[in-house]
Amino acid sequence: MAIRPVVKIGSKILLTPSEPVAIINEELKQTLIQDMLDTMKAEDGAGLAAPQIGVNLRVMVFGVEKNPRYPDAEVVPTTILINPSFRPLSDEKEEGWEGCLSIPDYRGVVSRFKQIEYRGYTENGEEIVRQVSDFHARVFQHEFDHLDGILYVHRIEDMRYFGLNEELHNSGMIPKSDVDVQEE
Ligand code: NI
Repeated sequence: MAIRPVVKIGSKILLTPSEPVAIINEELKQTLIQDMLDTMKAEDGAGLAAPQIGVNLRVMVFGVEKNPRYPDAEVVPTTILINPSFRPLSDEKEEGWEGCLSIPDYRGVVSRFKQIEYRGYTENGEEIVRQVSDFHARVFQHEFDHLDGILYVHRIEDMRYFGLNEELHNSGMIPKSDVDVQEE
């Protein structure tokens, strides 16, 4: 188990497109993937991509457990995806607030596909194919962007909907009922 420092905005690592994983082996499982899960948990994040711990490989993890503080929040199963891909299931997009562990304390509104089908490989080499929507789809698309060197702030269309999380909550821009996850 190792909690790794999260790479922050300004680092070229976050802007570098990541390489596909050639071989899923024990080293990948024991080091990179385990460290990603440990780091995501320690940071209380909803997701994490390998570049965020300084590794430009196409690996992402995400998951949101049931939280008694937010009984209505959508539960997303803890998922490890190697070499993921996705396609939108319709043209419909939805705006939503996002944050990122690499951009601490800030939030911004980003438009994402509402319904997608994603696929990728687990740490055991099994293929996962899922059709998901809403928050689950948003988390995936946020992490997928990291693998292409894209941060959510690059996708904000109206910068009036970007700011410090605390101030956005104080001003009512982010409703109190909104789930406050560090990384969507
Ligand atoms: Ni992020």
